Amino acid sequence: MRRPIVVGNWKMNMLISSSGHWVEELLNTSDCAGTFDIVVAPPFTSLSVVRKSIEGSKIQLAGQNMASEAEGAQTGEISAIMLKDAGCDYVILGHSERRQYHNESDELINKKIFLACENALNVIFCIGESVGEHNKDKTNDVIERQLFDGLQGLKEDQLNSLLIAYEPIWAIGTGHTANPNQVQDVHSFIRSLCEKSFGKDLARATRILYGGSVDSQSSSALMAQPDVDGLLVGGASLRSKSFYDIIKSSFKGD
Ligand code: 13P
Repeated sequence: MRRPIVVGNWKMNMLISSSGHWVEELLNTSDCAGTFDIVVAPPFTSLSVVRKSIEGSKIQLAGQNMASEAEGAQTGEISAIMLKDAGCDYVILGHSERRQYHNESDELINKKIFLACENALNVIFCIGESVGEHNKDKTNDVIERQLFDGLQGLKEDQLNSLLIAYEPIWAIGTGHTANPNQVQDVHSFIRSLCEKSFGKDLARATRILYGGSVDSQSSSALMAQPDVDGLLVGGASLRSKSFYDIIKSSFKGD
């Protein structure tokens, strides 16, 4: 019922020339058929070339971030409508790197989620605890706060376009993938919170992704968990081959 999804987040990597080449390689060398979604989130400067290269394929486009205002005097910002205009169907919001290095608060992220939903963008809403919080057994508290504050005031029809990405900060870029059973526990907790706040149907339909040092070794055990509906891949998405290996191992026999 929940369509699996793999998202490549290139972060601040890849020039225009390498971006087009990445897509070509993925499409030329790989069979991406199957009942799952593939999304790539290039830097803003590469959106246009990637949009052109994915034309006619199943690959979809995501923005890595978005402004909290709809338009106007916001030098350096990219609005929701601009992302739509550039061909994006998705946007990543609340990533821990935005929270950490750009001081994004739950309140600001909530504002962005509203705008993204209003503009028919599917939101990949990232939440996750730091290593200190993890060690103090605070994971569930952090998840609950980020989830409720980030989604405060959203109506059911807006939440339909929501995906949640659990990205423990201690697993991002460290090579320490979280244990699949632990991931399952957190995902099932997230789903139970969604059910409490938004009802059973919505909770059942919401896709929950895991992100944090995912590679082709860890992907299939993660995707085998009942509440893991997708993967948000950073470093291993930068080479089309390793991204494809993740797709292949995640959807064996699909
Ligand atoms: P890595 O896969 O490099 O750990 O990054 C995960 C991530 O932050 C994706 O958004």
